Amino acid sequence: MRQPLVAGNWKMNGDQADASKLLDGILAGLAEVKSAELAVCPPFILIPAVASKLAGSAVKWGGQNLDIHNSGAYTGEVSGPMLKDFGCTYVIVGHSERRSYYGEGDNVVAMKFGAAQDNGLIPILCVGESLEERAENETESVIDRQLDEVIDAHGITAFANAVIAYEPVWAIGTGKTATPDMAQEVHAYIRRKLATLDAGVAAGIRLLYGGSMKPDNAAELIAQPDIDGGLIGGASLKAEDFLGIAKAAG
Ligand code: 13P
Repeated sequence: MRQPLVAGNWKMNGDQADASKLLDGILAGLAEVKSAELAVCPPFILIPAVASKLAGSAVKWGGQNLDIHNSGAYTGEVSGPMLKDFGCTYVIVGHSERRSYYGEGDNVVAMKFGAAQDNGLIPILCVGESLEERAENETESVIDRQLDEVIDAHGITAFANAVIAYEPVWAIGTGKTATPDMAQEVHAYIRRKLATLDAGVAAGIRLLYGGSMKPDNAAELIAQPDIDGGLIGGASLKAEDFLGIAKAAG
């Protein structure tokens, strides 16, 4: 039985006061969340404050990105050991915004996945196709390309300690959600693909959906057999909405 995971990707939003208010709201409603595991991924600069606020609670935290190196002359970057030092459990790698705005290719994403695991962090690996790629029927080949680079670099067993988020680029921040059937189809494809390499890993890994997930569409999405939770952008910035999704996850 896979425990649902609902993770908030705050992206580049919020100041200290916003973060504090948001976390107070989440902690206040936590008792109503039955089975889902919750995590938040704030901007780097807010991680220390988030860590002290969430320490001892059931809510975990993580980074939105990390560098491929552990330390050194890499101005502006944050490393895996630094995230670990601040108690992060998770780190998002390969988000489509990193891929498209910051030029992260599949090989860099694969290196970041490895850097995360080398430092005891659980990577949340994002994959997903653009609108044009979907229109060209390339969804599966895009997912293949994005996953194969990581599988080739680290082996299928690395996925025993990872999360995959399917985030169709056309659904991110657009208010357009994949229908539960559309999302399930891709999630099932990912699980089948992993199962050809290792059935146990495929059965155990949590596959999250991301892209305009809200309290009113979360239950139907997460009820799909291969959808094990969500990676939430906009709706993770309001405690009520984030909790609403977490409650819908069970
Ligand atoms: P939205 O929920 O705002 O569409 O963002 C999804 C996302 O990119 C999470 O990583």
